Amino acid sequence: MSRPVFIALDFPDAKTTMSFLEKFNDLSEKPALKVGMELYYSEGADFVRELRKQGFTIFLDLKLYDIPTTVGHAVASIAKLDVQYLTVHAIGGSVMLQQAVKNKGQKMKLLAVTQLTSFSEIDIQKTQLTTATMQESVLHLADIAYQTGIDGTISSAQEAELIRQKINDTFLRVTPGIRLTGDSADDQARITTPLKAKQMGATGLVVGRSITKSDNPVQAYQRILTEWGN
Ligand code: C5P
Repeated sequence: MSRPVFIALDFPDAKTTMSFLEKFNDLSEKPALKVGMELYYSEGADFVRELRKQGFTIFLDLKLYDIPTTVGHAVASIAKLDVQYLTVHAIGGSVMLQQAVKNKGQKMKLLAVTQLTSFSEIDIQKTQLTTATMQESVLHLADIAYQTGIDGTISSAQEAELIRQKINDTFLRVTPGIRLTGDSADDQARITTPLKAKQMGATGLVVGRSITKSDNPVQAYQRILTEWGN
């Protein structure tokens, strides 16, 4: 799983999720899954344990952001779930990120959210009262994350290449905001196709609605894998 494509399981409950996952039963390799706040807050840790028991690679996207001690303890609890990836917000700062790294255990990778892909440059300038450009802001947050020992970032594909150049090739660059040509952007402001994301230096993709809202989710997933080159 060196260049994972995570399907974002943005579903309200376990039942809907399992009936969606059944469609993928015939594939030779199980898809990697992203469990976000909606599903986690509805079904909790037991459901994550169940998905792990079934052999799925899990990216738990809880975007932790709190005081350093609280985040450190939360990361230690989540590490016991044996998930492969977890998100924290880079904007939580160095001390918070250090606590996260200290408590993550040996196997789980931490990804730092830089700027949400639903944010445009104007949005961040207004909300965060800054004159920084999107690229400056993302790069600054990525660098803070890198300095503290975080494994990689979540950013739009539009910043992935810059992060690769300014930080290094091995720092992971996972990119949401992925749409197949012709799909709706929904609430995402910075979208890219899987092929473009690959060309722009992404090392992993998160895809939700282009798969989950498709008439044929398995076909959409396979199209994405083909474009992505897995
Ligand atoms: O449906 P769509 O492909 O837009 O879903 C993207 C997923 O990636 C959602 O689950 C969202 O929470 C997540 N995400 C994001 N932008 C980030 C971090 C995570 O869209 N910066």
